[in-house]
Amino acid sequence: MLLQPERYQREWRELEEEFQQLQETHKVYRQKLEELNNLQAACSSSIRKQKRKLKDLKYSLQRCKHKSSPEESDLIQQINTQIKDRQNIFFDMEAYLPKRNGFAYKDEYEKFKLYLTIILLLGAVACRFILHYRVTDEVFNFLLVWYYCTLTIRESILINNGSRIKGWWVSHHYVSTFLSGVMLTWPDGLMYQMFRNQFLAFSIFQSCVQFLQYYYQSGCLYRLCALGKRNHLDLTVEGFQSWMWRGLTFLLPFLFFGHFWQLYNAITLFELSRHTECKEWQVFVLALTFLLLFLGNFLTTLKVVHTKLQKNEDEMKKL
Ligand code: COA
Repeated sequence: MLLQPERYQREWRELEEEFQQLQETHKVYRQKLEELNNLQAACSSSIRKQKRKLKDLKYSLQRCKHKSSPEESDLIQQINTQIKDRQNIFFDMEAYLPKRNGFAYKDEYEKFKLYLTIILLLGAVACRFILHYRVTDEVFNFLLVWYYCTLTIRESILINNGSRIKGWWVSHHYVSTFLSGVMLTWPDGLMYQMFRNQFLAFSIFQSCVQFLQYYYQSGCLYRLCALGKRNHLDLTVEGFQSWMWRGLTFLLPFLFFGHFWQLYNAITLFELSRHTECKEWQVFVLALTFLLLFLGNFLTTLKVVHTKLQKNEDEMKKL
């Protein structure tokens, strides 16, 4: 039988051997990690360069399209189709690469929208059902102005960091800031009271839609993020696409209902502006602003869905 110290010494030697092996494995791991990082950086940089050049090429083709003969037009069309395919390939490639534009900031932006939506929902419910004072309405409208102003600033940062937020969604928040500002200056009176409840009810509905949007958009964000770290989650690009379509199909009826409510607000305000007692300029300006919001939101949403459908079809054809 072995003496106690000798047993410990043997155990120590075994551990020592295992440790040597571990050190070797870790060394290999660090080398591979460095290789991986270099490959990721090389791919990301090449994709960025290619994208920039494709953009320039697309712009040049667009410019010479007007002066070209039918054969040249055909050639331009062909190159444009290939550029589009290439962009889709880059999107798939990027799904396997670490994201450059800090998911954290986008995540924080979505959370900011969520918290403010909760506050705005409570504010709208309180103003609609409990507090019938002009001063509380003003506080609510002031909060809206501040919220939309902050969104525009945060979105500019996101765009600088590579977000694909479309032009209208950013302008939409400038227009909403303007709308809430005009609401803030609308003096109390018969006209204001005739529109107040409709506006507050619309605000409640909009906050509810914003909840659904949060669920959808943060879901897309987390799934895209997981695609970037796919070794942790068994998630595929097709899986992401199918989740996105399910989310979108659920969300779209609510969005379109909201857009038509904006149109209804515009019509109500146009009618009020023709009322014999209407003296405030705000009524007509707000009617135009709601109409602009309806057109922008509705047409851009249709365009987004159409683009997504086309992209889906292109991918199905490739399979
Ligand atoms: N506000 C802010 N950002 C938006 C946005 C919006 N309304 N719509 C899209 N984006 C962002 C996305 O988060 C994404 O950002 P990323 O590149 O940082 O990931 C980028 O723009 C591209 O998004 P895209 O793939 O084109 O659309 P999506 O699938 O994320 O969202 C909709 C599609 C239709 C759900 C979305 O555009 C939407 O909710 N639109 C309706 C808004 C509206 O009408 N509101 C009023 C309701 S009454």
